[in-house]
Amino acid sequence: PAAAQPRAEEPRPLVIAHRGASGYVPEHTLAAYALAVLQGADYVEPDLVMTKDGQLVARHDNQLDLTTDVAARPEFADRRRTRTVDGIELTGWFSEDFSLAEIKTLRAIERIPKIRPGNARLDKSLEVPTLQEIIDLVRSLEKSQGRRIGLYPETKHPTHFQHLGLGMEEPLVEILRRNGYHSRHAPVYIQSFEVENLKTLRRLTPLRLVQLFGSGQPYDQQVIGSALTYAQMATPAGLQAIAAYADGVGPDKSYIIPRDANGNLGSPTDFVPNAHAAGLRVHPYTFRAENNFLPLELRSSGEPAERGDLEAEIRAFLDAGIDGLFSDHPDIALRLREQL
Ligand code: G3P
Ligand code: CA
Repeated sequence: PAAAQPRAEEPRPLVIAHRGASGYVPEHTLAAYALAVLQGADYVEPDLVMTKDGQLVARHDNQLDLTTDVAARPEFADRRRTRTVDGIELTGWFSEDFSLAEIKTLRAIERIPKIRPGNARLDKSLEVPTLQEIIDLVRSLEKSQGRRIGLYPETKHPTHFQHLGLGMEEPLVEILRRNGYHSRHAPVYIQSFEVENLKTLRRLTPLRLVQLFGSGQPYDQQVIGSALTYAQMATPAGLQAIAAYADGVGPDKSYIIPRDANGNLGSPTDFVPNAHAAGLRVHPYTFRAENNFLPLELRSSGEPAERGDLEAEIRAFLDAGIDGLFSDHPDIALRLREQL
């Protein structure tokens, strides 16, 4: 295919559909990405993991039983394993133990059905998409929508997969290149929590890269015995160092506006001006309607949904000068952007 056309000036803030429009449809399914595009999202975000045969598929976790029906499939009962993933011992079914053909027989299920019962009604009707299928969807929607739609892939567990002989960097760059995404002007950002993964990608591709910030230490830094923590990376000097290999940063929201013990938003930190001074764009995560104060992954599935004031939160972050945001509800972020 022809190279992706140079992008027009990107809208600001960029609205990135987090795992697709995952507030409305089970995450990381073609339906979730398509809905996000129809809502007007600028970019769709696939988290990527590897299959046993080296294919890239969209799942937030390599532990497939969290978001597919694999645990209920008798033919895969003997694939249950205990594995150490990024230093944490987990028991379940893992993408690296399945071929792509086997994963294509699985069906997506909603991660937290009690909080998102509407999504759960779509359980077992949707497949796990490959990166190529997501690109094909985006390209076809670009034609019907008459606009460019960006891809914002995240490499999940790259060091873990590398140790299994399933390095992610080259297959990812190769698929993107084959589909015409191979310049700084292509509508792509590749994101990772791991530093060495991004540095490897920097050597392989001119596509734009984004350093994610979590808590503690990037897993690859633990493996190589480095003392580098996310807190150190968030200092002015740390951000300048990131600018040597990345174009932007994707911090957890708390780096930009911390909340107090009661969940109230505090004052913005210097993170955004410091990142801008280093020449980095700032795309924080995750803006969602249900319980803004605790990541969904950390909540027990029995808790009732709490409705945080998502609109007030987004407005506060816009005032803090962010360049984009990841949201499970891209329609809400887009509505607020129109009011700017
Ligand atoms: O990629 C930004 C954000 O998605 C990182 O968190 O866990 O939702 O992939 P996670
Ligand atoms: Ca992600």
